[in-house]
Amino acid sequence: MKVKNICCIGAGYVGGPTMAVIAAKCPDIDVHVVDLNEQRIAAWNDVNLDNLPIYEPGLSDIVAQARGRNLIFSTNVDQAIQEADMIFISVNTPTKTYGIGKGMAADLKYIELCARQIARVATSNKIIVEKSTLPVRTAEALKSILSSSGNGVKFQVLSNPEFLAEGTAIQDLLQPDRVLIGGERTLEGEEAIQALHDVYNNWITTERILLTNVWSSELSKLTANAFLAQRVSSINSLSALCEATEADVDEVARAIGQDSRIGPKFLKSSVGFGGSCFQKDILNLVYLCQTYGLNEVADYWHQVIKMNDYQKRRFAQKIISTLYNTVNGKKIVLLGWAFKKDTNDTRESAAIYVADYLLSEQAEIVVYDPKVTQEQVYADLDYLNTRSEERNRSLVTVAKNYEDLFKDAHAVAVMTEWDEFKTIDWSKVYIDMLKPAFIFDGRAILDMQALEGIGFTGFAIGKG
Ligand code: UDX
Ligand code: UDX
Ligand code: ADP
Repeated sequence: MKVKNICCIGAGYVGGPTMAVIAAKCPDIDVHVVDLNEQRIAAWNDVNLDNLPIYEPGLSDIVAQARGRNLIFSTNVDQAIQEADMIFISVNTPTKTYGIGKGMAADLKYIELCARQIARVATSNKIIVEKSTLPVRTAEALKSILSSSGNGVKFQVLSNPEFLAEGTAIQDLLQPDRVLIGGERTLEGEEAIQALHDVYNNWITTERILLTNVWSSELSKLTANAFLAQRVSSINSLSALCEATEADVDEVARAIGQDSRIGPKFLKSSVGFGGSCFQKDILNLVYLCQTYGLNEVADYWHQVIKMNDYQKRRFAQKIISTLYNTVNGKKIVLLGWAFKKDTNDTRESAAIYVADYLLSEQAEIVVYDPKVTQEQVYADLDYLNTRSEERNRSLVTVAKNYEDLFKDAHAVAVMTEWDEFKTIDWSKVYIDMLKPAFIFDGRAILDMQALEGIGFTGFAIGKG
């Protein structure tokens, strides 16, 4: 079977870029991206491509190429479902905030709503593709809901996890290390797998398209993120030891990364990993292991998150202890709020937690991030519920540019590794700041020797 019409439910960080690339690479396929959020859809349709709802290098070019040709964004969920022969589900699957599995398990209510809507609306056979990160065996639940529609429509459920990283999403989609498709190994299942394979095969060679059973595919996604996060926590744990000794964590990372069995990537020590996936997926994995009574396995992976929490707390404490054990009323500039560079996404960003610690010590925080809005910064802090919304607004200001940013600041802390922070005129910053002028580099991207030459008192993560 050849796919002619794709629907994607969910126009977020995953659905938007993924569908834009499929549409650009497959001009013969109509791609219809739908979302309940009208504001988000309006932003995807904005004539000014600077107003797309997410910032991602290269995204606007791809959208410009396909939008209006074979890429449509709308809120017409029912119509898109009806017309499609393949439906991607890319809705959010946040960690549960209530009931059993609270704080651990994924909340599948949005997924289930999609499945029920598809079952209700569909009048022809469809291939359903799970794109959201999901606990293992979700496909089974989807299948059960879909097959109970009782109107004779047949569904095949595939798992096709997303491996794109934000900030490099377009590159990752255009040239992925691999595409993973999990499906039932029955005749109908194989046909559905082949249909999705053929979509990707428009620009990705067959050797890079891996076919597995559904459960392996679902579990591979959780495992990949758990391994990646574990590498960051491993190097971050050693950053603490490096600081206590005369070692330099970047030198250690380079030395071990040259071992081809270890490899050089994902060994950059930081103030802690963030993003919508790592923590959520590990918690999912931990919950899954606990469910099967595998407590040692659960504890092993849980440690990756505990180490990450420790790293964020440790950085905030370092700032407080260096500033003579009090930050009360002191202006501290946080450079960066996004969870990594080249994205406007702030979900689980280390900056939120570091700011929260400092605010509890009654610091005055000024945030500057080239892509994050003031509303987002306040929303992130309010979400933690540590203090009132008014209090957050009285203690935190968000700067739109560098003008007067550093004036009378006691300290500057780098939270996100934006390239532009490297080219700031630090001698000028030094003049503006109160003395002693402190700088805390949570990403180890600045030339600390040069900064100390100017007069700063500096600290960089993992440097003894
Ligand atoms: C991740 C996975 O990489 C991707 O394959 C999956 O589909 C989704 O989750 P993402 O969260 O977008 O992608 O970004 P990633 O580049 O993995 O970074 C995650 C966090 O780890 C960021 O906060 C980043 O700053 C941090 N990180 C990453 C480090 O601190 N050090 C590193 O060496 C690498
Ligand atoms: C190790 C390091 O590899 C080497 O660089 C260091 O100098 C000394 O320690 P060695 O102990 O000789 O070398 O063997 P290695 O190949 O690392 O295997 C260690 C153990 O891990 C073995 O029992 C091996 O069976 C096991 N292993 C290794 C696995 O179970 N799975 C693997 O994928 C790799
Ligand atoms: P991700 O990073 O996984 O893409 P996002 O939160 O950025 O997550 O995007 C998920 C999108 O899915 C949101 O825009 C949300 O409005 C949308 N969504 C959630 N449930 C539904 C639904 N039942 N129908 C349509 N859209 C939905």
